Amino acid sequence: MRVYIEDIGKYVGQEITLKGWVYHTRSSGKIKFLVFRDGTGLLQCVLFPGETDRKFLDLFSDLTQETSVIISGVPRVEKRSTGGFELGLKSFEIVHKTLDYPISPKEHGVGFLMEHRHLWIRSKRQHAILRVRASLIKHCRDFFDINGFILCDAPILTPSACEGTTTLFETQYFEEKAYLSQSGQLYNEATARAFGKVYCFGPTFRAEKSKTRKHLTEFWMLEPEVAFASLEDNMELAENFIEYIVQKNLEEKEEEIKSLERDIERLKIIKTPFDRLHYNDAAERLKKSDTGFVYGNDFGAPDESFLCQHYHKPFFVHRFPKKIKAFYMKQDPKDPTLSLSCDLLAPEGYGEIIGGGAREENLEILRKEVERHGLREEDFGWYFDLRKYGSVPTAGFGLGIERALAWICGLPHVRETIPFPRMLERLRP
Ligand code: 4AD
Ligand code: MG
Repeated sequence: MRVYIEDIGKYVGQEITLKGWVYHTRSSGKIKFLVFRDGTGLLQCVLFPGETDRKFLDLFSDLTQETSVIISGVPRVEKRSTGGFELGLKSFEIVHKTLDYPISPKEHGVGFLMEHRHLWIRSKRQHAILRVRASLIKHCRDFFDINGFILCDAPILTPSACEGTTTLFETQYFEEKAYLSQSGQLYNEATARAFGKVYCFGPTFRAEKSKTRKHLTEFWMLEPEVAFASLEDNMELAENFIEYIVQKNLEEKEEEIKSLERDIERLKIIKTPFDRLHYNDAAERLKKSDTGFVYGNDFGAPDESFLCQHYHKPFFVHRFPKKIKAFYMKQDPKDPTLSLSCDLLAPEGYGEIIGGGAREENLEILRKEVERHGLREEDFGWYFDLRKYGSVPTAGFGLGIERALAWICGLPHVRETIPFPRMLERLRP
């Protein structure tokens, strides 16, 4: 019977077959050890001279790293083994013998590993990260599904910018130019007026020229949008969402997260409420730092790191200056130089993982902002319609999956948080 490693506990004492790859092998006197992987886990297999046909002892040296193989044997409980089981190996059949696998257990540089990303994802650490990613995405979607949000996909090919014209990827769309979506938000504003509470989830694109540990050119974003919601409602939704995804992820993938040497105590405390810091108060704090921050500007990485020092939980910064935010951000009625925006910054220096806010409803202000941002009014006719027909306040946010995952896993760089990262200078593999 073909069994996966993750289910092996159900088959103790029975002869089973597994299909997978050689992780590594070693010998100790006459006993041979094979560490086998099948995508669901690692399994130690032991070949004893008395328990197998002699030919398998002779063939054992053919089990080179990453050789694909079908193995048969009997599992037994072995507390000292990874996963708690061991397989008494009886026989194996080689499917394809691998020669000169480029990634050996020794240390490799990041550049080399990135070039071999298609193979690197087979390793234990990458495996753990990408499993946590899959679970994170599931929990992100669960949160919104459970809370009555409707999934409404936004298009990827779009005629105009959402987040500013400097990071647009242009593509030919028959006779005209199109751009890869930077955010599904503008479409969310339409679907929110159709369904009340919506979210979209998909890849988003930014032609980021910056080479930092937080920037990808293609990343996955989860974006909710709620009709009749205020900035306060939005922050409340975001904090409940973050508590949910962190705690659920921890429950489900504790073993993987621990294997990444992440201090999980730092995740266990991620419970609402999160602090809310006005941009002006953040600016006051930054005055006392040596980050070179200038009032009215967006935060740079050093500013975010400085602010993060005061917190063990994520915290909001709200009401950023209007001039540094996208055209759709609602003006703060108390101070028209500010916007009803909010970012959520993760602790431990991770910084912004969520960006969002309340959307401008005033058609005249919107028209002016479209012009000020160098956008073409004719591309926004449909968007203006949302303010003409049953206009209501809406608010929402976007969570970058990779940045959230880097924080949850305690990784220094986002490049390991996605199977095939796209960055400045990296389009391959
Ligand atoms: O702050 P951003 O640009 O906000 C928006 O796009 C809004 N339209 C979302 C909304 O309100 N519906 O991006 C949101 C999040 C950031 O906080 C960050 O986590 C992630 O997307 N992000 C990136 N992640 C990786 N690489 C990049 N280049 C990113 N740019 C943004
Ligand atoms: Mg942002």
